[in-house]
This record gives sequence, structure tokens and C-alpha cells, in this order.
Amino acid sequence: MKIIMLGAPGAGKGTQAKQIADKYGIPHISTGDIFRANIKNNTELGQKAKQYMDQGMLVPDELTCDLVMDRIGEKDCENGFVLDGFPRTIPQAEALDGALGKIGQKMDYAIDVDVPDDNIVGRMGGRRACLNCGATYHVVTIPTKVEGICDRCGSPVVLRDDDKPETVQKRLAVYHEQTQPLIDYYKGQGILKTVDGTQPMEAVFAAIVEILG
Ligand code: AP5
Repeated sequence: MKIIMLGAPGAGKGTQAKQIADKYGIPHISTGDIFRANIKNNTELGQKAKQYMDQGMLVPDELTCDLVMDRIGEKDCENGFVLDGFPRTIPQAEALDGALGKIGQKMDYAIDVDVPDDNIVGRMGGRRACLNCGATYHVVTIPTKVEGICDRCGSPVVLRDDDKPETVQKRLAVYHEQTQPLIDYYKGQGILKTVDGTQPMEAVFAAIVEILG
């Protein structure tokens, strides 16, 4: 099963993608997590990506596409994968279709987690992320057991640099301009499914499972 998670920043794509990966036994591939791991390890890719991410802008397609194509070519992706944060532009979507087309494959589902902008800003301010293992929390709705410490790996959890309110506004603007057109792109392919992302997380996941079967 090959799945794309669509939705605004903070809509809950990562939260749902992790649960999908666990339930269906497929890898969760988050371009944001890959970039953040590279920033943490101070790689050349990380240094380049950080300049864009800190401003709420997209990392250029040429730094992003090859990375994902290599990752989905790995053995653990043979039975499918869930893409979280990719594609984010029409050229990225076309690159993905082109790469899969060459091996006679195509995406199965594009799931749009729909949340209005007004809800997003509050969510992001409360989000805490573990930069070591990628787990995410929320100070009100999913607090860590010990304040400031990741339940899963024991590392500190932090407010992401790009979750500051002014950067969130920029990310939302970039989303509407560059990523939202993908909704029509996948509607045209007949694989778009929309879930109401304002519901509690468990209800959002139940709606997704209903779609995936
Ligand atoms: P990325 O990490 O992909 O960020 P994003 O798309 O902005 O998405 P987020 O991770 O912020 O949110 P999410 O939808 O996963 O929400 P989450 O589940 O955490 O990308 C970061 C940056 O990297 C980009 O800005 C860009 O610069 C760059 N980048 C990445 N991919 C790229 C690409 N393909 N091309 C170019 N550049 C790229 O949930 C958010 C919060 O809400 C959490 O606290 C959570 O607990 C809470 N929450 C979740 N669901 C619910 C619910 N149902 N009810 C209440 N609270 C909820």
C-alpha cells in the first residue's frame, strides 16, 4: 500500500502517518524528519535545508526529490510506504509519478487531513518534538510523562524553530500557494480521500482505517 499524507503544516499528518505505518507494517517516510536529522548531524544537506526551513520556506525540489526516490527504492519499501510531507509541489508529485511509472507502479491513496488555518496556529505553539527520534507531543493534548523529556527515547523535547507563530504563518501561506494544488492533482487521478482533521486523533485514525481497509 503506497500512501501520501496531504495537509497543512500541523494538520496531523505525522501523527497519523506513524499510526498507519505501525498498523500496516510499512515504513513512515517524513521529509521533514530526514531534514531535521541532517540538521542535527550538521551534514551539508542539513546546512542547506536549514536556511529554507527556518524561514518557513520549502527546501528546493532538487534537494528533495532524489532523496525520496532513493529512500522508496530501499528494500523495506517493497510492500509500500507512507509519505509524510512529500510531495509538496506539483514538480515533486510529477517526479514521484515518473519514478514509480518506470517500474510499473503508482500511488494508491492521497489522504488529505483537512484542518482550517485558525486551528493550526494553536496546535503548533503547543507542539513539542523530539529531535532525536521524531516523536511529537502537545503540551495540552499529549503531554510527555516527564515534563520536557521524550517518553520513547529519553531525549529533551523542544519547540521546533519553525513553530514560532510568525514562521507558522509563512508556512501556511507557502502551503496554500505551493502544496494545496496537489489536492486537485490527486483528485484528477481518482486517489484523493479527505478526512476531517479537526476531530480527536483517534477519530481521525478510525476514518483513515475505514478508507484503507
Ligand atoms: P514537516 O516536518 O513536513 O512539517 P509540516 O508539513 O509543516 O508538518 P508538521 O510536521 O509541522 O505537522 P504535521 O501535519 O505532521 O502535524 P503533527 O502530526 O506533528 O516539514 C518541515 C519543513 O521541512 C517544511 O516547512 C519545509 O521547509 C521542509 N520540507 C519538508 N518536506 C519538504 C518537501 N517535500 N519539499 C520541500 N521542503 C520540505 O501534529 C501537529 C500538532 O498537533 C502536534 O502537537 C499533535 O500532537 C497535534 N495534533 C495532531 N493531530 C491532532 C488532532 N486530531 N487534534 C488535536 N491535536 C492534534
